[in-house]
Amino acid sequence: MRAICPGSFDPVTHGHLDIVTRAASLFDEVLVAVGRNSTKNYLFSPEERIAMLREATASLPNVRVTQLSGLLVDFCRAEGVDVIVKGLRFASDFEFELQMAQMNHALSGIETIMLPTAARWAHLSSTMIREVANLGGDVGQFVSPAVAERIAALVAGRQADAAG
Ligand code: PNS
Repeated sequence: MRAICPGSFDPVTHGHLDIVTRAASLFDEVLVAVGRNSTKNYLFSPEERIAMLREATASLPNVRVTQLSGLLVDFCRAEGVDVIVKGLRFASDFEFELQMAQMNHALSGIETIMLPTAARWAHLSSTMIREVANLGGDVGQFVSPAVAERIAALVAGRQADAAG
């Protein structure tokens, strides 16, 4: 079976990688699809987010990283995806994920499977990592060294721009 892990991945965290790795052990093939949530302001471009995910999943042979454009259910139909996999950290995630799962099922009949996030990563959120990084905090414990380096370079570049 072919599964998809859709998300913004801005940036990819240890929590995302835990879900992708577990999905890769459950399904024949996993597509990691980098999408756009119109309510979010992104730190990295889709190309940068894809590059970071490719680096982070290079050791997983049945994982493919790709860009998601348009409706998730249309993408699933075009790519022959059987199931959507999402990670759940806490109850408030569930409310939104349930709504999306129901909408996606109503639109196309596709099923969503929700995996509980490993407890050690339950507090992680890309939104919070962006906030901490933007304000100069150290996010090295939440992301891979390669991602931490990209964040540091981005923040340093912004500070240099601001200094003029
Ligand atoms: O990591 P995020 O920000 O929670 O990811 C959200 C994402 C990109 C998975 C979601 O916004 C999505 O599926 N976007 C594709 C467009 C779509 O199908 N929207 C309707 C979902 S019910």
